[in-house]
Amino acid sequence: MAAALEQSEWIYAKTMPQCPHWYTLRKKWSAPAPFEELVQFIRDNGYREKFGRTWFTRLDVNNFKYWTMGAPLPATILINRAEIDRPEPYDVIAPIYDSLWSTPEAEAENRAVIESLAYTEGSVLDIGCGSGLLLDLIQPRRYLGIDPSSGMLDLLKWKHPLAETVHSTFEAFYPGERRFDLIVGLFAAPSYVEPAALARIPSLLKPGGRYFLMFYRDGYEPETHKAAGVEIPFHDWRRAAKHLPDSQVSEFGNFVVLRT
Ligand SMILES: C[S@@+](CC[C@H](N)C(=O)[O-])C[C@H]1O[C@@H](n2cnc3c(N)ncnc32)[C@H](O)[C@@H]1O
Repeated sequence: MAAALEQSEWIYAKTMPQCPHWYTLRKKWSAPAPFEELVQFIRDNGYREKFGRTWFTRLDVNNFKYWTMGAPLPATILINRAEIDRPEPYDVIAPIYDSLWSTPEAEAENRAVIESLAYTEGSVLDIGCGSGLLLDLIQPRRYLGIDPSSGMLDLLKWKHPLAETVHSTFEAFYPGERRFDLIVGLFAAPSYVEPAALARIPSLLKPGGRYFLMFYRDGYEPETHKAAGVEIPFHDWRRAAKHLPDSQVSEFGNFVVLRT
């Protein structure tokens, strides 16, 4: 369903430049799923968001959000979409992020993580890729980094202009048919992801593929939060472990690693 949304024909809504968005019309619908099923999919899986005085049900797919005006299904004639541009907590941290981790101790820890990953070849999905730490240390030929923070992604793009990235949370990330040999989430990026959403990680792996996910350990106060003076809520790693029951659990400094 998510792929069908992406494949449709989207027309820019010229009459509303103050609120840039695109729309697709029922009468021109050509995507490989019935129009009404798509509308229902948005309504069943979306979240409520207020715009002006009206509440809408919106569904995020990669870097776009989709919504309809809320008329009954037979009377719904268009689906809207707009780029997601909501501010993210890590946008505030981005300007100082790399400098926080440029001490010899931090660099040694980064190298130790990469060694522990034991990456040799194959495609990599980097969840919460941030400013591109993984690419600073290894250069997989097939790499996809996802992150909801445009501030962090801008840094990654500046250092690694050719890297493929998607501006999205993992919860809203739909890679279509694409599957990966290795899925990583370094230095607690997966702690910010809704634990139930992590359950689909094994299904995004190629046969024989593996994952390596780092979470904040109990009681740890993230240095990034302290340095930037922000408090960003994150989840207990045990909740993620419940959704990834085949994981091996180990400790690494201030982190707990779930891996296969
Ligand atoms: C501590 S940083 C780690 C960045 C990078 N992996 C590293 O090791 O340097 C956490 C990253 O997770 C990202 N993040 C936060 N919520 C996320 C979500 N729901 N899905 C994916 N990434 C998320 C943040 O924007 C941030 O870039």
